[in-house]
Amino acid sequence: MSRLERTALSVLHRMDPEQAHDLSLRALRTPFVSLPDPVTSPRLSTTLAGLELVNPVGLAAGYDKNAVSLAPLMRAGFGFLEVGAATPVPQPGNAKPRLFRLTDDRAVINRFGFNNEGADAIAKRLAARPQGIPVGLNLGANKTSADRAADFAKVLTTCGAHVDFATVNVSSPNTEKLRDLQGKEALTALLDGVAAANAQLTKPKPIFLKIAPDLTDQDLSDIAEIATGPLIDAVIATNTTLGRRNLKSVHKDETGGLSGAPLFALSTRILARLSELTEGTVPIVGVGGVSSAEEAYIKIRAGASAVQLYSAMVYEGLSLIPRIAKGLDALLERDGFGSVAEAVGTDRERWL
Ligand SMILES: Cc1cc2nc3c(=O)[nH]c(=O)nc-3n(C[C@H](O)[C@H](O)[C@H](O)COP(=O)(O)O)c2cc1C
Repeated sequence: MSRLERTALSVLHRMDPEQAHDLSLRALRTPFVSLPDPVTSPRLSTTLAGLELVNPVGLAAGYDKNAVSLAPLMRAGFGFLEVGAATPVPQPGNAKPRLFRLTDDRAVINRFGFNNEGADAIAKRLAARPQGIPVGLNLGANKTSADRAADFAKVLTTCGAHVDFATVNVSSPNTEKLRDLQGKEALTALLDGVAAANAQLTKPKPIFLKIAPDLTDQDLSDIAEIATGPLIDAVIATNTTLGRRNLKSVHKDETGGLSGAPLFALSTRILARLSELTEGTVPIVGVGGVSSAEEAYIKIRAGASAVQLYSAMVYEGLSLIPRIAKGLDALLERDGFGSVAEAVGTDRERWL
């Protein structure tokens, strides 16, 4: 980490977390942030549900909810980005404060509740982005919608032409009853609607499903059954957790979803179990607590074809991304893997 980045982080950490988050997005659009351009190598380049990635390290949904800093993020070292969640109409989200740093735990709690500028505004920004790495959109539902399941298809209809993949996010803990849509019947009906909207696009897009870490084994079996069918191209495991174990920070009891280091083992176990249930046939994106090349590598060896991260950037800054990509390359080389794909799932048993 450079001195400039260290100073910037210490200033940001003295601010209110949500203001710091907004400022970090704004700072990205200035010339003061140095961007490494995509990090790649023959070992790191890979595919995910048909998408060509220069490396398997992605930005998780929720950092750039409104796609306001796409151009710099595309040059920050990531192999792919996910922006959003976008809902059909703009909504303010939950009352502030709604974002908390748990510094002693290297974690974050958020209860944003899908605050965003709405699908139309986000579609315009996605359409205007430069060429580069794949960019996907996290689809969400409006809190007051009469038909939440239909909202996912609506956002896809509005934004689908301008994205490389779209993620059905029924796993956010911050919209009441949203997670009920993860049940087998409700989810199949929702995904049928998304598939119909997708078929209407000139070029249909890969559809990802993002799941919660707080699922039972029966829930996971149901998800595996759906994921091996025609409605889903990849699964993102996982979103934030409602669980709270062994935390020491002042804000540990805030309501919301917990992310960062305490989520690592839980989300990796879910990913490994899903990989086992789907017999490695469904691409899985491993998310939750990744803060180093070693942890990205562990997720890949547990069954992930690619990884995403967000919370670790709060503590390590954006320079973490090229460090993880380059470190991953070195770890693959050390262990004799010729590619990311060769390493996927090779240590899954350890997590079962
Ligand atoms: C402030 C914040 C906002 C988030 N918003 C979303 C969101 O809109 N949609 C979504 O699918 N996940 C959202 N997430 C979850 C992340 O995408 C990710 O799944 C989770 O944070 C675990 O990864 P991490 O430990 O690397 O942060 C959000 C996470 C945080 C911390």
